Amino acid sequence: MFAVPDSLRVENGVLYLLEQRKLPQEEIWVPMNTVTDCTKAIADMLVRGAPAIGVTAAFGFALAVRDYEGESLEKVIHELGISRPTAVNLSWAIARMQSCFQSGADSFEALWKEALSIHAEDKANNREIGRWGASVLKGRNLRVLTHCNAGALATGGYGTALGVIYRLAEEGRLEHVYADETRPYLQGSRLTAWELHKAGLSYNVLCDNMAASLMRQGRIDAVVVGADRIARNGDTANKIGTYGLAVLARHHGIPFVVAAPTSTIDEKLFNGDQIPIESRSPLEAGIFRGHLLAPEPEKYLHPGFDVTPVELIDAIVTEKGIFPAS
Ligand code: MRU
Repeated sequence: MFAVPDSLRVENGVLYLLEQRKLPQEEIWVPMNTVTDCTKAIADMLVRGAPAIGVTAAFGFALAVRDYEGESLEKVIHELGISRPTAVNLSWAIARMQSCFQSGADSFEALWKEALSIHAEDKANNREIGRWGASVLKGRNLRVLTHCNAGALATGGYGTALGVIYRLAEEGRLEHVYADETRPYLQGSRLTAWELHKAGLSYNVLCDNMAASLMRQGRIDAVVVGADRIARNGDTANKIGTYGLAVLARHHGIPFVVAAPTSTIDEKLFNGDQIPIESRSPLEAGIFRGHLLAPEPEKYLHPGFDVTPVELIDAIVTEKGIFPAS
């Protein structure tokens, strides 16, 4: 077995988040003492990844109930709920905490316990996703490409897309991982590569424009990605760049698999056109560590996510099993 990091920890009744913006240079754990700490941590991407956002929001809800009531409580919960728009796990977790609150389990202790359950369930679900996902990918010596970070850092533990990859490694069927760098926020090079390094797996980081050529050379056997929101028809929003990979994978006859918990499925949306796509600051894309990447960095576009139409997805793997995307 290999080392898989945590993104969240609860110690002595306090939630700590790993400060993901500092990785891979520094490992700093930041305590979340209030709901506002949680809201800010999500909005500013101290924590990121759809399931990890959901788990953080669940603890934030409990802290809100401890510190607020009436209209003030409604206001802080609303702010928590809109801290990021695309990952539906955020509103899923808040809805689950709301129903606990409304069913009479409304003390801080009861709600904290519910948040702990959401965290533990997410971890357990990821093991199942890993198991199902590995079963979809046939053969040995597999070389798998992933995009963004859908690993332990993005979830309550173990990961979804990386969970599938970890499981393949456990089964002795993984040869190599390609981690897309994932411009502009570099979740692939900063976070996925960090996880793969810690796990001691064989990997390369790819700049985002390299996948096509590797596919053509027959060096990639499968693409496995996570999801931020899956519409009822299977259209899937994930980190910007995912759609392009799906087009490439189909062209080259390579299986394209989405791995996500059922909490990522938004049954209210009929298709991917209805998924809200986060638009982030152009400066986050156009300025790197104080250096301008273009004469006018504000000219960068920076959509955070794209939607992959279901017809390009070979399977959607959840903790409950495999949905052929059709
Ligand atoms: O902007 P981020 O870093 O929160 O985006 C993360 C992703 O797109 C992940 O692939 C997705 O949330 C799935 S995480 C298991």
